[in-house]
Amino acid sequence: MRKEINNLTKIENIIDFKKDISKEDEIFKKLMFIYSIAIKELKTKIEILQEESKIFYNYELIDHITTRIKTPESIINKMRKKEYDFTYKEMINNINDIAGIRIICPLKKDIFTIKNLIENLSGVNILKEKDYVTKPKKTGYSSYHLIVEIPINLSKEIIYVKVEIQIRTLAMDFWANLEHKTRYKPEHKVDKNVSKELEKCAKIIDTLDNQMMLLKNF
Ligand code: GTP
Ligand code: MG
Repeated sequence: MRKEINNLTKIENIIDFKKDISKEDEIFKKLMFIYSIAIKELKTKIEILQEESKIFYNYELIDHITTRIKTPESIINKMRKKEYDFTYKEMINNINDIAGIRIICPLKKDIFTIKNLIENLSGVNILKEKDYVTKPKKTGYSSYHLIVEIPINLSKEIIYVKVEIQIRTLAMDFWANLEHKTRYKPEHKVDKNVSKELEKCAKIIDTLDNQMMLLKNF
């Protein structure tokens, strides 16, 4: 649980919370800076776990880590789609994936190890969890999602910032990247047959992930 809740920990203390969103606004720039710091902080913590696993346990728990910050255009599109008010308050409270970290691991069981390690990191509060590994989405999509918040130390205050973490195997990542490309190609409408094929591929990927766990020497 969050240990220090006081007035200094709220993001609205350093920005005009009620103001309407504008991409050109200084507030937007400040917010993007804060989210980028959150990514840096959390990525470092995860890299420590990655290195520790190699050095202490001679095991490659994490293959690689990617990060991304949502573009202002994408934030605005999502708010429009979800019909939120165009205020910074709505944006901060509702858009949980402005800062995103993806952790790619070799095996399915690594996902749960990583998730437990993240849950035990001091200063990281878990706000939401979605287990699409045990229960994949209808599309076939499989990954473990966490929405966390971490404290960011600015010169005058500590503020909590949300980050979305997606944990998946190399095989799940391969599928998700291809599926994403198919789905978001502007010239293509989502084709039912393609969706069916992708669902089938997701099942094969899952079989592969289960089979890979049976390999010795891991
Ligand atoms: P948004 O999709 O972000 O509005 O939120 P949500 O509440 O539906 O969250 P969810 O945790 O289900 O999905 C969040 C993110 O997971 C998405 O932005 C994608 O990056 C990824 N994701 C979810 N479903 C799929 C899918 O079917 N295919 C692919 N490729 N990615 C997905
Ligand atoms: Mg998203």
